[in-house]
Amino acid sequence: MINGIKTLKFGVEDREKCQEFATDFGLKQVHSDIDDTTKFNMDNSSVIYVYNKDDVRLPPAFEEGSTLREVTWAVNRQEDFDKLKESLKDVDGYRVDENTLYCLDPNGLTLSFEVDILKTNLEQVSVGINQYGSINRVNQASPVYEKASPLGIGHVVLFSPNLKAAQTFYEEKLGFYLSDAYNDRGAFLRCSAEGWHHNLFLLKLPNKKEPGLNHVAFIVRDIHEVIGGGLNMNRKKWDSFIGPGRHPVSSAYFWYVHSPFGGAFEYYTNDDYLTPEWQPRHYDYSLDLFAEWAVEGGIDSATRRQINKM
Ligand SMILES: [Fe+2]
Repeated sequence: MINGIKTLKFGVEDREKCQEFATDFGLKQVHSDIDDTTKFNMDNSSVIYVYNKDDVRLPPAFEEGSTLREVTWAVNRQEDFDKLKESLKDVDGYRVDENTLYCLDPNGLTLSFEVDILKTNLEQVSVGINQYGSINRVNQASPVYEKASPLGIGHVVLFSPNLKAAQTFYEEKLGFYLSDAYNDRGAFLRCSAEGWHHNLFLLKLPNKKEPGLNHVAFIVRDIHEVIGGGLNMNRKKWDSFIGPGRHPVSSAYFWYVHSPFGGAFEYYTNDDYLTPEWQPRHYDYSLDLFAEWAVEGGIDSATRRQINKM
């Protein structure tokens, strides 16, 4: 029914700083002066808009400060859009405006829905990885990236104090699929039966009673681009606070950077690709489920070694 994240709208305290951050992060800025918004286009045709946080055109914020204000999901076909119109009728914030459907999720975040298909077969393919029994790169070196250039918005992670209500909403009203779960702690959800491990992660933390944005994740070509991106963010003096590392749940390589948009931005690659045959795994949360391994504090771009915090 839904094929991915089409648009994210942010309301921020310092739009200029966000522009600088996003450009260093590798997002392609389209404009910065039309209607007091900044726009970034992703290769997979998804878009990020940045507004000043008090801009009256934005829907209400679900937390203080700079944060995500609206997620637009791409709906496969008109008939799916019509189905959503029916299933969301009794949901808070329900509104239909020409070709866009709006509602609030249980966290109070504004969602919208538009018929669109995000691009999946991008031309910029990664170079193959050689593994024992699977030679995919011959007479060719692995790339070294100076910086990242993310291909698309992969997932959003929301603090969801009422995890059960939020998970039920996304599964039952929007037809999302559970990929994996931490018991009473988190739900990894994908928007289509076949696709990457998660488009949305709902996170319930014992000491976080209010909803909010935890991070937005951007998909890059390969592990080398994760490394190149993270090193570049360190070089540009942004706080690339944890990474590189690997999540055992989803299998993805990651690197996180604190973001002036609110929460963090993540580079990631190599997550699991699932079909309807996949059976969700249910775990009791423990730290080793977040990271099989990770570099705390990041890597110094000058020494190419772990940042020595002593
Ligand atoms: Fe993530």
